[in-house]
Amino acid sequence: MSLIRLNLTAIRNLQAQELTPSPRINLLHGDNGSGKTSVLEAIHLLGLARSFRSTRLTPVIQHDQERAVVFGLVQLADGRQSSLGIARERNGNCQIRIDGQNARSAAQLAEVLPLQLINPDSFRLLEGAPKIRRQFLDWGVFHVEPRFLAAWQRLQAALRQRNSWLRHGRIDPAAQAAWDRELALASEVIDEYRRAYIQALKPVFERTLAQLVELPELTLSYYRGWDRERSLDEVLAASLLRDQQLGHTQAGPQRADLRLRIGSHNAADILSRGQQKLVVCALRIAQGHLVNQAKHGQCVYLVDDLPSELDEQHRHALCRLLEDLDCQVFITGVDGATLKDGWRTDTPVAMFHVEHGRIEYSGVKA
Ligand SMILES: Nc1ncnc2c1ncn2[C@@H]1O[C@H](COP(=O)(O)OP(=O)(O)O)[C@@H](O)[C@H]1O
Ligand SMILES: [Mg+2]
Repeated sequence: MSLIRLNLTAIRNLQAQELTPSPRINLLHGDNGSGKTSVLEAIHLLGLARSFRSTRLTPVIQHDQERAVVFGLVQLADGRQSSLGIARERNGNCQIRIDGQNARSAAQLAEVLPLQLINPDSFRLLEGAPKIRRQFLDWGVFHVEPRFLAAWQRLQAALRQRNSWLRHGRIDPAAQAAWDRELALASEVIDEYRRAYIQALKPVFERTLAQLVELPELTLSYYRGWDRERSLDEVLAASLLRDQQLGHTQAGPQRADLRLRIGSHNAADILSRGQQKLVVCALRIAQGHLVNQAKHGQCVYLVDDLPSELDEQHRHALCRLLEDLDCQVFITGVDGATLKDGWRTDTPVAMFHVEHGRIEYSGVKA
């Protein structure tokens, strides 16, 4: 998939404009505050219906404007095109349109425009709460396993039921057993999908990482959210009293995590910020390879502030990996010459200069 047209209206400081990106590498350079990150934010909005900069969407809407609108035309892998639109109003209304129809959920956007973001906050994938890693994991499973979404919704429904009766007390023991059984069954399905995904991701991740940085002792493993030796039925029965005290279910796939370790250490505790960023790049690029294999179409990469934390050698190694993925990439940085540097001569690279919210195409890389 690639964005062949992008229309922006009232996004942060960006002027209303239309952009025709290259299907391969797009470099956006310009001074601090010129609007580079805002362009990536607009694309992110189009693919996920949310920003990566703030949990609320109102700050994205240009001051003095009532609504921000992003429209994109996407080239699909099978030769068709799909149009995506997202409008966000100050009063909180959000409208998602796909091919002229109202869409019900952001998952439908993700299906058309799978995005991967690499930015200066990326280290959070290693350092942050397990939820961030679960989102990463489930993004991958969602894009390779068509049955995942329905299974995930089934799990959420069962979990909501159980947590509700844990909080409100009385329930007939037979009904409770039936709900526990449903929760355990739904959990097993999710666990199976996640496990299969990690098994496929691991070798691709290791290969990718080795091309970026030398960290041979780094290991990636999957924790399913409950004891490896026991079934979830058993675990739920054993923790019933405690769950009732806490008012929620402690064990299960809602507690799953990915573990990145170096020996007995948590990788986040000993790696430098730059090394953490490279590990995250390897994870996200590995996911891109699995999407390619599963869908015969690529995800789009957003790399905000490429030079931050990366020296020239590692920047070039990352460029190589992005070139090998053969996908569309949007990369920002202050200095155009730094961004331009390191690409193979036959890779099509389009340059855009961003100045005071205006994006000017400045030609292909010379
Ligand atoms: N809602 C908004 N309306 C208008 N301008 C905004 C809004 N939010 C942020 N800005 C301004 O937009 C500019 C662009 O920021 P950003 O995209 O982060 O720039 P860059 O990534 O090029 O450094 C900043 O100068 C910021 O002050
Ligand atoms: Mg920026």
